Amino acid sequence: MKKLIIGNFKMNTTPSEFKTYAMTLATKARGARNNIVVCPPFTHLSLAKEFLSGSKVAFGAQNISAEESGSFTGEISAKMIKDLGATYVIVGHSDRRGLFKESDKTINKKIKTALANGLKVILCVGESLQIRESKQTQNFVRKQIESVVIAYEPIWAIGTGKTATNKDISKMVEIIRKEIEGQFSAKAGKNITIVYGGSVGLKNYKKIITNESLDGVLMGGACLDVDTFALIARENY
Ligand code: 13P
Repeated sequence: MKKLIIGNFKMNTTPSEFKTYAMTLATKARGARNNIVVCPPFTHLSLAKEFLSGSKVAFGAQNISAEESGSFTGEISAKMIKDLGATYVIVGHSDRRGLFKESDKTINKKIKTALANGLKVILCVGESLQIRESKQTQNFVRKQIESVVIAYEPIWAIGTGKTATNKDISKMVEIIRKEIEGQFSAKAGKNITIVYGGSVGLKNYKKIITNESLDGVLMGGACLDVDTFALIARENY
């Protein structure tokens, strides 16, 4: 089964280090059948465009502003990253929710801004899931859902070496699908892409990725080593 393999660099690597990483990954990813995405820091996105364009590896940002443009010093807009060739953006990571106090309301606005700018959204949720009601028509929402990847990341599993069991993951994935089914449609619930994140690495990736309820994984620490990331990304599941 074709899976979605995502690497979230968080605030790691310098642009120069990333350049080497991107060149290596582009080569190693040749012939891979999985969908591969890396999300480096903003400062690396133009390098991602330069060194990953034309390769099997797509790229995205780790965050965007909820606003389109204006007096928001230090913020980066959806349009800016889209212009640099990003196809994805991570929204609502637990780092953002916890450390930067992003509320569901802000996250909801960021999702809408990202989708309005043609970006695919990797929406991270923790143990509590609150999906905001959209005032758009059903078809529009269905289309939006197609562009959303939900990353289920139990906060206690992030960077701790502990992972949720497959039983727990499947149960949560089912809850998320049911919620989407209820809020939108049976089709949306079935088709939404759901990945798991939280200490996925060399020791446990096989067991987690082959969980049939999941569409893929979101890796933090493990994606920083290009050999590990490429190995996991290249495999047929
Ligand atoms: P780790 O894989 O380092 O636990 O990080 C997971 C994560 O938060 C990815 O966004």
